[in-house]
Amino acid sequence: MASATRDHFSSRLGVLAATLGSAVGLGNIWKFPSLVGQNGGASFLVVYLLASLCIGLPLMISDLSLGRAGRSNVISIFQKLAPRTGWWLIGLSAIISCLLILGFYSDVAGWVFAYIFKSATGAVSSTDPAVAQASFSSLLNDGPVSLFWQWLVLLLTGGIIMRGASAGIEKVTRILMPVLFLLLVGVCIRSLTLPGASEGLRFLFMPQWERVDASVIMMAMGLAFFKMSLGMGCMLSSYFKEDVNIPLMATRVMICDLLVSLLAGIAIFPAVFSFGFQPAEGPALLFLTIPAVFASMPGGTFFATLFFILSAIASTGAILSLLEVPVAWLSERFSLPRTKAVPILLAGLVLLGLPATLSTGPALQDVKLFGLTFFDLYDALSSTILMPLSGIVTSLFVGYFWKKEHMLAALGGGMPARLVRTLCRTVTPVLITLVLLHGLGII
Ligand code: PFF
Repeated sequence: MASATRDHFSSRLGVLAATLGSAVGLGNIWKFPSLVGQNGGASFLVVYLLASLCIGLPLMISDLSLGRAGRSNVISIFQKLAPRTGWWLIGLSAIISCLLILGFYSDVAGWVFAYIFKSATGAVSSTDPAVAQASFSSLLNDGPVSLFWQWLVLLLTGGIIMRGASAGIEKVTRILMPVLFLLLVGVCIRSLTLPGASEGLRFLFMPQWERVDASVIMMAMGLAFFKMSLGMGCMLSSYFKEDVNIPLMATRVMICDLLVSLLAGIAIFPAVFSFGFQPAEGPALLFLTIPAVFASMPGGTFFATLFFILSAIASTGAILSLLEVPVAWLSERFSLPRTKAVPILLAGLVLLGLPATLSTGPALQDVKLFGLTFFDLYDALSSTILMPLSGIVTSLFVGYFWKKEHMLAALGGGMPARLVRTLCRTVTPVLITLVLLHGLGII
């Protein structure tokens, strides 16, 4: 239960850092830039911006307002705002999504942490793609080592979360976010000053409207969802003070998140093209192309290490926000101190993460459910089904069920609040339904 002594973020900068820490993650580095490049450059950016404005922003504002109005864990928020109804299932879906995302995201974060050491020691410093491939495969094929890195990430982030919202998440993200930004700018400058860098900029930004079809539009909308951590944002805002202007804060987070994604693209693609590599996507971009690209340039070991440190920072902020959702529920529902709730959760995550991690190597890669490995299944269940589903239900709750005066008051009133209400009653749920149906292969 929420109490008068409930923890809260102490400053507006802390609120921005914590919320941005959730939005900025591996999605900014391995997903966003390559999707922009492959799907129409500036044209994709326009579509993404529209998706962010019609879906991302209204839902983020809704999530944040619900959290602050309910001031509790994701399930109790709905039990408080809509007693004796089934709306709390939105919160349950958020907890399940967070656990599933943590199951595979902490695995990838573990690889990123491992690569800080691999690049610092020069172990992946070769321009030969076969060397990069062999190094990455040896990590994936070695179950115990992959698990070691995943558990290390969980322990590290669990240790931070144990300290609470303000002493843990706020304090750490306030330091990490500016460091991430500075490192990113440093790598951008290196990348932009390489010969032939303009080719990479053209790949990223040249508008190509002929590439934008219905499925690209769906992809942009789905990307906005994952990028802005929608569907679980209400947790962090339960620690916001009353004076935080939520629509303004959400707009700032959206813009800063976009900026980090664009900077990541500027850090990566000019260098990729300058050394004649192909612009890959996902793990191949991060763990195969990037080490080879950095190995090709003077000072490459240093910049590769910086790049993996900044990626590790990005994943840490995202994982903190994901962990907070089940931790707050466990500790509030069962009146457990965080020192007990966090170890219980970590033990559960070790078990849940095990099949995902082992499914990227020989141990479990042939075990498939619905044709997917555990790793892909966790990803599909959370990002393709549960997140859009809870997005639809949240927008209906905010648009129709939440009493108009309460909803407008929670959003701070005025034009932004009315606009969000109108969008949640109309465009937003319809568009997310299309994303869900597309994700399920129905349209
Ligand atoms: N927004 C994060 C990223 O772009 O990597 C991922 C994420 C974090 C999704 C937190 C959902 C979430 F609740």
